[in-house]
Amino acid sequence: MTARILVCGGAGYIGAHMVRRLQLDGHDVVVLDNLSTGHRAAVQGAGLVEADLLDAPELARVFDAHRFDCVMHFSARSLVGESMARPYEYYRANVTGTLNLLEAMQRAGVQRFIFSSTAAVFGTPRAPVIDETHPTAPINPYGATKLMVERVLADAATAHGLRSVSLRYFNAAGASPQGGIGESHVPETHLVPLAIAAALDTGRRLQVFGTDYDTPDGTCIRDYVHVDDLADAHVRAMDLTAREPGAHAFNLGNGAGFSVREVIASVGRVSGREVPFEEAPRRAGDPPVLVASSTRARDVLGWTPQYRDLDAIVRTAWDWHRAPAY
Ligand code: UFG
Repeated sequence: MTARILVCGGAGYIGAHMVRRLQLDGHDVVVLDNLSTGHRAAVQGAGLVEADLLDAPELARVFDAHRFDCVMHFSARSLVGESMARPYEYYRANVTGTLNLLEAMQRAGVQRFIFSSTAAVFGTPRAPVIDETHPTAPINPYGATKLMVERVLADAATAHGLRSVSLRYFNAAGASPQGGIGESHVPETHLVPLAIAAALDTGRRLQVFGTDYDTPDGTCIRDYVHVDDLADAHVRAMDLTAREPGAHAFNLGNGAGFSVREVIASVGRVSGREVPFEEAPRRAGDPPVLVASSTRARDVLGWTPQYRDLDAIVRTAWDWHRAPAY
């Protein structure tokens, strides 16, 4: 059934892939984005409301103008290091902004909400593979803001009957194989785009942050999951809110970890180029290993990531970065 969906942060990396998927499924999409990190060119074929979640009157106008069946919320400040240095900005944007959105939804009677959460809610992992029973203990303001919203969603389920799903992404990577949208952060801090940038530009060297971790090759291990697989999980989460009340949370990853050196090797294979790199000190706040168990997402949502192979993920990123549209 066709739904009308508000995608907050639909001009950003993951949000733009979500919008494309919803359009392919025949839904009617409105994007709300303040374009602070998103890109106007990423919003294709959907209405764009250029507004900030801190502007409550403008939010009320958006909900007056449209009758939404569901809200998906991707807007956030999302850099761990920056959140350590500028916590107020993170709490204001990620917590106050989300509260404004939830209150606008409540006034408009919108009862279904899909929230972009993060592996950072878990803090330092206490298990080699992280499932939903793992304790949540964020070690930076970014993760703390996301966990606070998860708590708000649980309270909103009890108080107001809000139906929500929090999706904790591990390492989002790749781009739409159809082209036209992809990852474009300024500044870029993520491994896959920076490794590709080093392959493309011989003047640049990737810095490998830490080579003395207690991992097989000494570098950090992460769980890379394709952005279109994340979008697919959101579609399934939205379906869940149609049949289940309550506040739900799922961890989303591939279930396989790859080290920084393995990612560099993958970019080398896919690009056919050398990836110049140098060893550098550890980056503050990086846990050695972050790998998801997505068993609950598989069992409850029926989610199966289509991109299982790191090279397949990196290939879609490589195709985007060779000729980015924005
Ligand atoms: N890395 C490098 N060199 C770089 C960039 C990254 O060696 O130039 C390493 C990092 O140290 C880390 C790995 O590559 O070990 C992945 O780093 P990313 O910055 O790509 O991703 P993170 O794992 O740090 O971050 C992701 C999400 C965050 C989330 C976090 C949870 O992007 O939103 O996982 O810890 F908060």
